[in-house]
Amino acid sequence: MKKAIYPGSFDPVTLGHLDIIKRAATIFDELTVLVMDNSQKCKLFSADERVNMISGLLCDVSNVQVSSWAGLLVDYAKESGANIIVRGLRTTTDFEYELQMAHTNHLEYDPIETVFLTTALSYSYLSSSVVREFASYGGDISSFVPESIIPMIKERYKEIGLKDRKG
Ligand code: PNS
Repeated sequence: MKKAIYPGSFDPVTLGHLDIIKRAATIFDELTVLVMDNSQKCKLFSADERVNMISGLLCDVSNVQVSSWAGLLVDYAKESGANIIVRGLRTTTDFEYELQMAHTNHLEYDPIETVFLTTALSYSYLSSSVVREFASYGGDISSFVPESIIPMIKERYKEIGLKDRKG
């Protein structure tokens, strides 16, 4: 049984993340999309909001579940019995950071392996922070995130106040 975890902040989830999730779901028997609830980073959406948002997009993928975790990733792996971490790679800059994380996680917990999937070329520029940047000015994010979550993102920026896109 190949049990994998796809961890991330997913604040918010992007089309690039969804592409990795759907491809990983065809490779592994079980996949947990793990929303990391790292309180040091100030988030646009709470962990529960992010879990609900992602769950709603994956109803048709039977071997994927969505959960959240506030601690170390390796501790979730130990508790859940998953021994594969999936991460997407966009650029060589990603690689440096990802390699460090993969080595660290492996040193902390020997059975854990990190598997990298190359992000689809069409999403290689995309990140949650790009989405937040555009959305914070009321910009068009329809090429970046699934249509169904756009109203939630717009609503959140209405609550916190949109920036003036003309400066
Ligand atoms: O989407 P992100 O922000 O690139 O995800 C990074 C994340 C959350 C997967 C990573 O920071 C993480 O695993 N954090 C949990 C704490 C942890 O286990 N740190 C040790 C990894 S070196």
